[in-house]
This record gives sequence, C-alpha cells and structure tokens, in this order.
Amino acid sequence: MTITHRAELLNLIAYSNSYRTYLEIGVRNPQSTYNRICCDQKTGVDPAPQMPCTYMMTSDEFFNTVQPHLSVRYDLVFIDGLHEAHQVYQDTENALANLSSNGTIVLHDCNPTQKEHQTTKRKPGQKHWTGDTWKAFALLRMTRPDLEMFTVNADWGLGVIRLGKQKVFPTSMPIDEMDYDFLCNNRLELMNLIECENVNKSLLRASRSTFFNTLIYRMRGTTGVLGRASKRIGQYMKRK
Ligand SMILES: C[S@@+](CC[C@H](N)C(=O)[O-])C[C@H]1O[C@@H](n2cnc3c(N)ncnc32)[C@H](O)[C@@H]1O
Repeated sequence: MTITHRAELLNLIAYSNSYRTYLEIGVRNPQSTYNRICCDQKTGVDPAPQMPCTYMMTSDEFFNTVQPHLSVRYDLVFIDGLHEAHQVYQDTENALANLSSNGTIVLHDCNPTQKEHQTTKRKPGQKHWTGDTWKAFALLRMTRPDLEMFTVNADWGLGVIRLGKQKVFPTSMPIDEMDYDFLCNNRLELMNLIECENVNKSLLRASRSTFFNTLIYRMRGTTGVLGRASKRIGQYMKRK
C-alpha cells in the first residue's frame, strides 16, 4: 500500500471503522484535506482559514467555549493547527477528552527528516517545515501506557493515536529538553515508525486492542461471570 497524502490514511481509518464524526483542527484550504474526508458529520476549526470553515477560532477557544455545548464525540480527529509542541500536546489532550471510545486521532508532521524542518517557528520563505509537533507525540509515547500509538512514514509523518495499550518509550523527558539529535538517535522506537505496507496490520491490531480495552473498561466493577471474564481478558491482553 502507498500513502501519498494524509486524506488517504484518514479515509482508510474512517472506512475501516465505519466512522461518522470528523474534527479537523487547522483546516486552511478545505479542498486540501477536509472536503476529501468521507464522514457524515464534519467540523472544521481554524482562526484564519482560506475559505470559511465551521468554527473560525483557535482550537483552545473551540475546546473551551464551543465543544462543552455540543453533544458530539469525535470518531476521527485530525490535528494540523498550530505546529508548536505544547499546543499540539494540548490539542491532543482535548481531542482525547472528546474522542469516542473507538476513536482515532491523527497528528500531521510527526516525522521531520532534517533539523531545520522542525524549528518551532517557520522562517520566512521556508519551503519544508513541520514545526516541532513530533515532541508532543514523543511525550505521549513516554507517558501514556493507556494509548496505542504509531507513526506512518508518509506525508511528513502521520502520528496515529487511539485508546489501547503500549509499552512506553523508556526515557521520560520534558518537551523543552527534547532536541533533533534525540529524535534521530531514537526515531524508530520513539515514534514507533512503520512503513506504509504495514499500515493495515497496525490498524487492525490497534482496533483489536481498543475493542478489548473498551470491553474490559465496561465490564470492570461488575461481579460474577462478567467480572471474572474481564479479568481473564485483561490478563490475556497483558501477555500479548
Ligand atoms: C498546515 S495548515 C492546515 C492544513 C490542512 N489541514 C491540510 O491538510 O491541508 C495549519 C492551519 O492551522 C491554523 N491554525 C493556526 N493556529 C491555530 C490554532 N491555534 N488553532 C487552530 N488552527 C490554527 C492556520 O490558520 C492554518 O490554516
């Protein structure tokens, strides 16, 4: 399988999970990605898009003032707004808080291949630039065993995040101490980098793990047969 544009991965994820609700943080030109996503109910957030989108405001304003009044949970969230690590981390936390239990978050620009591409601010006239989004993904890889995460090596790195489980990256480090050498020395494991031909396998494993975790979560606290079954499934998933 080849993936040349983020919309292809987003649609593959939407299609294989029968997703209905889509949120895009940072739309710019909707023709590029937003309009191409096949979901029934779509929401776009951008303070300065090239064409009008659903909410013309920053992601923080959206999550703090609008989202609390909406009853929707998102199946698929694409985070491609302000490419500064702390903001991307905040957007991801907010997306997780409003994600459906079987939902998926995708972060754009998680795999810069040159040091000068991943500066926090874009330099005037700079053609290739990813911001330091990768640091937000890396922090979650270090600190969140309750997530399933991998980065598809396509379109500057598409970071996929779902509820599930992962073996966290063993070193913990604040965002402000991460540098490009750290990424280069640990890229495969830190970003859990996979090639396009392995995408289907990883998506399948991720949805299986999310399914079992949701099941265990729902059954936890129940007594009798259900409680015992959830304990067994939990032990089985830990062994895998
Ligand atoms: C890289 S572009 C988005 C590209 C688009 N998602 C695509 O696939 O073509 C980044 C967009 O994020 C928007 N943006 C900047 N700061 C933002 C914020 N705090 N919240 C949401 N969007 C923001 C910018 O206005 C810009 O349009």
